[in-house]
Amino acid sequence: MSSRTPLIAGNWKMHKTGFQAVEAASQLKRLVNRATDVEVMIAPTFTALYQVAQALKGSTIALGAQNLYWEKQGAFTGEISSEMLVEVGCSHVIIGHSERRLFFGETDASINLKIRAALSASLIPVFCIGETEAQREAGETFSVLDKQVRDGLKDFVFDDLSGLVVAYEPVWAIGTGKTASKEQAQEAHQFVRSLLDTLFGKPFASAVRILYGGSVKPDNVRVLMEMPDIDGALVGGASLDPETFSKLVFFNE
Ligand code: PGA
Repeated sequence: MSSRTPLIAGNWKMHKTGFQAVEAASQLKRLVNRATDVEVMIAPTFTALYQVAQALKGSTIALGAQNLYWEKQGAFTGEISSEMLVEVGCSHVIIGHSERRLFFGETDASINLKIRAALSASLIPVFCIGETEAQREAGETFSVLDKQVRDGLKDFVFDDLSGLVVAYEPVWAIGTGKTASKEQAQEAHQFVRSLLDTLFGKPFASAVRILYGGSVKPDNVRVLMEMPDIDGALVGGASLDPETFSKLVFFNE
């Protein structure tokens, strides 16, 4: 294992009302209280963020949002700015999730603007990338990842990106129960890390955390986490139940 502190992040997607989110967050707080040497983050839906932030007080669990808009304010009906997220207690924000790319038309260019907005508000972006099944079958995995990383991080320099987290999530593994094998995941992570080395240099590439996402469960987390370039997990389905999620946090036990 590397010296990078693992990050286990839960993406609750469009699940849980505010009330349900507070219940789950409070339970999780009790369950992972004793966790050391691992960071934990949960990303509830926007409307639950403030309540969950209150419920998490006194714990080390970080709060993340699932999206933001890059403008600071203005006539952008339905959108949320980075400053608004900071105000309700967020330290992280998931950007460019494949569901946002697929259902909401997000592009590498809009993701780039969102990463910039997050970093300028001192939010930690969890920048998601990953190939579809068709792209993998066509042998395009590395070229897809290469483009997503280059365009998503276009015009940044090393100094801008401090804290950035990357999440490799093969689209065919999200919510399908089909996890990438540890070899497939490691190969992709290694590719991304070496690309980040080329773009931003070794100190950045060796410090940046690259999470794996896609059907991570208590029974597969450990083998994935043993791989040298996998620094954590971005978890959807298995993050909804606090007991199950806490097993991921204690992947080492
Ligand atoms: P999953 O989702 O764990 O349900 O596959 C992962 C994600 O979308 O981040």
